Amino acid sequence: MTKTDILMPGPMMPSVIEALDRDFVLHRLWEQSDRDAFLREVGPRIRGLAASTVAGRTDGTLLGYLPNLEVIASFGVGYDNVDVVEAARRGIVVTNTPDVLNAEVADLTIGLLIATLRQIPQADRYLRAGQWLKAPFPLSPTLRERKVGIIGLGRIGKAIARRLEGFDVSIAYHGRTRQEGVAYAYHPTLKGMAEACDVLIAITPGGASTKHLINAEILKALGPNGVLINVARGSVVDERALIEALRSKTILAAGLDVFEDEPRVPQELIDMENVVLLPHVASASVHTRRAMGQLVVDNLISWFEGKGPLTPVPETPWSAVELPAAAG
Ligand code: NAP
Ligand code: 8YV
Repeated sequence: MTKTDILMPGPMMPSVIEALDRDFVLHRLWEQSDRDAFLREVGPRIRGLAASTVAGRTDGTLLGYLPNLEVIASFGVGYDNVDVVEAARRGIVVTNTPDVLNAEVADLTIGLLIATLRQIPQADRYLRAGQWLKAPFPLSPTLRERKVGIIGLGRIGKAIARRLEGFDVSIAYHGRTRQEGVAYAYHPTLKGMAEACDVLIAITPGGASTKHLINAEILKALGPNGVLINVARGSVVDERALIEALRSKTILAAGLDVFEDEPRVPQELIDMENVVLLPHVASASVHTRRAMGQLVVDNLISWFEGKGPLTPVPETPWSAVELPAAAG
């Protein structure tokens, strides 16, 4: 039986490549020297696309080469790397990898919060530099008696909140809507929550609707004892305003897993002592990345077996389109 053609714009995990090689004809765009010629020749045969942030945005330009594309399976729960509006306009289904990473990302967030407050990387550097031989490491700030505000109490935000319950801190949240049956204090405005809290944890989607949600005004409201943890997207924070707030002690410290122009991180942040910086690793364990990769594969298999997508994103038009005949 003829195998379905799948396009992979940028390299993904070996387990994903192997699985897709087994069941489909996998085309590796990043290996092509003449990308345009390759897409013009192969594009019309492509029915599925395995997307990741590595190869940049999956947008109208790429989709223009793929007139018979049915499904985009994106690696990651956040899908700001895919133009979902354009995909929907073309009747293309988009899937992401929700839930399988909730616990991993929440664990890392708690680790980053404590590392930032208790200055764990700074203390490690201090010891390695032989400084302990001269004097004890200075006393650090604390998580004790803090008020934590979660920006985006979704799947991962709730997993973070559940973990925070064990730390005996007060928990509040901000989102566009108050959630039924949630006992944490709701703040309809982010500024109001920043004023009421001394830790903000950002775990919203990226994209236009959250761009620079955390700006100079919010950081001022958070105040000089305030700590910002960003595990959402770099675009959610105005990075220049954050650098200025850290430099001027408008806020105390920040723990950042994500940046506006990854993998480039401003030198000002790298040079600061009151920040902990991670290279976008919140979901990056072997266990969880394997589960995310498997969900990319499973979405493609399910779609081409005629069973529909397993985890379509909310904007996707899948219920409005006819399921394709089983491709085998
Ligand atoms: P989710 O279940 O869809 O939750 C998203 C939450 O954000 C919802 O509670 C939503 O509440 C809130 N939200 C959306 N737009 C907002 C806005 N404009 N202002 C305030 N709140 C807003 O998503 P999830 O699975 O928890 O994932 C959340 C995000 O985490 C992903 O999209 C991704 O950007 C990020 N993430 C990062 C990493 C990493 O490696 N650092 C890993 C995984 C995920 P309302 O609808 O009520 O506003
Ligand atoms: C991944 C993420 O690191 O799921 C997300 O939204 O940000 C992370 O889990 C990222 O998608 C890898 O490209």
